[in-house]
Amino acid sequence: MAYNLLKGKKGLIFGALNEKSIAWQVAERAYEEGAEVVLSNTSVALRFGTVNELAERINSIVIPADATNIQDLENLIDKTMERFGGKIDFILHSIGMSPNVRKGRTYDDLDYDFFHKTLDISAISFHKVLQTCWKKDAITHGGSVVALSYIAAQRTLYGYNDMADAKALLESIARSFGYIYGRERGVRINTVSQSPTETTAGGGVMGFDALLDFSNRMSPLGNASALDCADFCITLFSDLTRKITMQNIYNDGGFSSMGMSNRAMAVYNRNLEECKDCK
Ligand SMILES: NC(=O)c1ccc[n+]([C@@H]2O[C@H](COP(=O)([O-])OP(=O)(O)OC[C@H]3O[C@@H](n4cnc5c(N)ncnc54)[C@H](O)[C@@H]3O)[C@@H](O)[C@H]2O)c1
Repeated sequence: MAYNLLKGKKGLIFGALNEKSIAWQVAERAYEEGAEVVLSNTSVALRFGTVNELAERINSIVIPADATNIQDLENLIDKTMERFGGKIDFILHSIGMSPNVRKGRTYDDLDYDFFHKTLDISAISFHKVLQTCWKKDAITHGGSVVALSYIAAQRTLYGYNDMADAKALLESIARSFGYIYGRERGVRINTVSQSPTETTAGGGVMGFDALLDFSNRMSPLGNASALDCADFCITLFSDLTRKITMQNIYNDGGFSSMGMSNRAMAVYNRNLEECKDCK
């Protein structure tokens, strides 16, 4: 159901790769709510993904950019403002990748070049987007920026690896730049900490299926889907959340406030004997 919450607003959305991507769902919902959208992803993602189909569906364009590359970002922001005929009202940063996770390097055996890449792609790129927009004064007063995070920024979760460090940095950048943007330009910056979600990036996490099931059992409302996340992002881009900034907000069915649930305990009890020597 659409509420016209973003009528007349113009947004830039990073990270739609295929239909499962959280950014894809956000872009579709933003369009339904009346927004005009520009999509961006890397040239490789444009070749291997299906983002052009999305662009057609929502009457958008796709501008390639590697979000770690300042020249690409400058070009992207210039072209986006050209397309919109003015400033940008909202931005979604939905970007994450760890070469260590991809190559199966565990946290006690990280490759440091990979580690730098993880931080650059998954966190510093957020600073680069914000700084590029800052220098070009590209975001409207009252605008809103959201990046997607995960609870591994605060709590240790088996297998999340160096992405946990990247998410901690991402959330800190939202606060640090959120202060400056709020004070000087009236722009909100928040992170949404999402449940595990079946996507290309999500599926790369070690033991993902079990993690998904565990979170679901622990959460009184169950895991939040990509569409649930999209709905929440729409409210953050809308004028209904004008005073919310520098926050990390959990969209996780209650997981972050739980210690143990009945449904998780049931599985735990059943396997107790079998797993008594597990580390
Ligand atoms: N899926 C989950 O379980 C989950 C949970 C919490 C948070 N998140 C976060 O949500 C965001 C979106 O991930 P997703 O789950 O939709 O997976 P996804 O794989 O669909 O999206 C990740 C995107 O990052 C893009 N990307 C990678 N390197 C890039 C670069 N250098 N420049 C620009 N874009 C680049 C990819 O092309 C891809 O589109 C990520 O930040 C992820 O960490 C995901």
